[in-house]
Amino acid sequence: MLQLIDKLIVTHRLEPGEYRLLLEKIGGETGAGGNERGGEAATNDSFLDALTAAARKVAIENFGNGVYARGLIEISNFCRNDCLYCGIRRSNRNVARYRLSKEQIVACCRLGADLGFQSFVLQGGEDMGMSDDAIAEIVAEIRREFPRHAITLSLGERGREAFQRFFDAGADRYLLRHETADNQHYTHLHPAEMSLEKRLQALHDLREIGYQVGTGIMVGSPGQTLETLVKDIVFIEHFRPEMVGLGPFLPQHDTPFGGEKPGSLRMTLALLAIFRLMMPRALIPSTTSLATLASEGRVRGILAGANVVMPNLSPVETRALYALYDGKKSFGTEAAEGVAALTSELATIGYQPAFVRGDYRG
Ligand code: 5AD
Repeated sequence: MLQLIDKLIVTHRLEPGEYRLLLEKIGGETGAGGNERGGEAATNDSFLDALTAAARKVAIENFGNGVYARGLIEISNFCRNDCLYCGIRRSNRNVARYRLSKEQIVACCRLGADLGFQSFVLQGGEDMGMSDDAIAEIVAEIRREFPRHAITLSLGERGREAFQRFFDAGADRYLLRHETADNQHYTHLHPAEMSLEKRLQALHDLREIGYQVGTGIMVGSPGQTLETLVKDIVFIEHFRPEMVGLGPFLPQHDTPFGGEKPGSLRMTLALLAIFRLMMPRALIPSTTSLATLASEGRVRGILAGANVVMPNLSPVETRALYALYDGKKSFGTEAAEGVAALTSELATIGYQPAFVRGDYRG
């Protein structure tokens, strides 16, 4: 088994059957069952330790002990989609909807820039109340005021023309998780009008336009199996995204999956490590969902090879409304508090936040 880790370190890839063996060794199930202690727990733990230690070493070789900090601004929780897992799905009537104005968004960027951030992420639902024009203008305004900062968008599938306009306005990167590379599983997670084919087309469009592209999955989403996970790994190996976003599925009580169990910590850490070993220079965040799932989740993600954190710069008033899942954690209610909390959290493992653009360098 340790030979598989060595092979992954040296060749950056494994055969599908080998990925499967590796995942089986980690925990078998992708959901909460993977957290349970079976008879083989001790050997599995030492195997996971070996995998994450190898990934951590590669991350340190490439990024040192600085963790790229990106300021996250949640610009709208309106969404035309009805994804079965997501708390801001269209049919959830129990969430108050908000949309930040251009002025509010730019104010968040100013606050972030004052705190030292050189990289902003604008994330939101597929809010058609915000026109392509309006978004392009927001990007252009940020670009004018912050000519050297990185601008990342995470606004779902808005169509190739829109992607092009946002890029021309100054956006550098785009995050769009594929969620699962298995057709049937995709259909299980999404309403009929959405398809894996459209999602993959959007990812290819983004790449062709010239964005640094991020994709990824939720670990332990309902219906996920070791087979679908192997498909995800193989998809990412072929697509070679610059960024990989990966966190545990967490139930949200107002969604059809509100009663499902959360994803497994061990499986999430193992996948972070696998992607780090596969793509030594990829930008991989230790996500808020991981921090929400387990105490010290965020630092454990970094110790498994993640190299990015995304503290929240959204206004305090709207924070709670961007409720993708229950219990969503933030570093501290105010941005400045958040940065201080992040800095001390990272210090506990000998790392510090790096306030740089943090571009992909292949
Ligand atoms: N649990 C974990 N992650 C979620 N996301 C949406 N809903 C949930 C949930 N219940 C993730 C999706 C999406 C990203 C913005 O948030 O993967 O791509």
